[in-house]
Amino acid sequence: MRDRVALAPYDAIMPFNQPRLVEEPRRKRVATNGDATNDLVWTASTEGNARIFAQILDLYIRPGSVVADVTYGKGVFWRSVPSDRYALRATDLLDGIDCRDLPYADGEIDCVVLDPPYMHSPGGTAHEAHSPFEEHYRNNGTGNLTGSKYHEAVLELYVDAGAEAHRVLRDRGVLIVKCQDEVCSNRQRFTHVEIMQAYSDIGFVAEDLFVVVRQNRPGVSRVVRQVHARKNHSYFLVFWKRGATGAVWEPPK
Ligand SMILES: C[S@@+](CC[C@H](N)C(=O)[O-])C[C@H]1O[C@@H](n2cnc3c(N)ncnc32)[C@H](O)[C@@H]1O
Repeated sequence: MRDRVALAPYDAIMPFNQPRLVEEPRRKRVATNGDATNDLVWTASTEGNARIFAQILDLYIRPGSVVADVTYGKGVFWRSVPSDRYALRATDLLDGIDCRDLPYADGEIDCVVLDPPYMHSPGGTAHEAHSPFEEHYRNNGTGNLTGSKYHEAVLELYVDAGAEAHRVLRDRGVLIVKCQDEVCSNRQRFTHVEIMQAYSDIGFVAEDLFVVVRQNRPGVSRVVRQVHARKNHSYFLVFWKRGATGAVWEPPK
């Protein structure tokens, strides 16, 4: 028989998922009402960003909440959300508002939505061959300056925008982040894990994770030999701001 491998405690390897500063007494919960159903919100779906985003809002954000979408783009996320359900504040670098420097007071916002570029082109002549990409993502070539390049630049933007979201969110306010992992310079980068680690340091608690699976088959130009699995999924991550009081997050009533 083999020796048992000593495992690190779960909290030591998953520090971003520790909501409780003050441990609450555990109460036994027995649901006596409710109906059996499989009509549920699932963690993985092929239904597309707009549908999944609407489901995330339904689960996590109380109607009437102030929601700041700070990388609004073309507003695709909002296509399945009734326009009167939330007080939406839509901004984007295209309007001159950088998600790292928002025009909101501390603690003014109930929910921040963040979907910055999840790939980076380094600027200079690289943009000449990447104009559609650049138009969509707005990297260095169009003023979205970062101090680093490629994957580090992607992460830098997520971290700086996360810190700004933390400033404008109220205690226990919710941050919804869209991201995708990438292989950069032949190196596997699990962006969603790096974001979770960085956001834990900022003061967020990771509450949920949704996998958006593409329905088409993304290709690659000039494959000599496939090394890593081609990604056909992205994520929505849901965080909440750990407040000074240590109170835990509660779902909307
Ligand atoms: C992936 S698109 C967002 C798509 C959007 N979620 C939608 O539903 O249409 C990325 C967006 O981030 C914006 N962006 C890039 N850098 C930014 C920054 N520093 N601050 C604010 N917006 C930024 C781009 O202009 C682009 O519209």
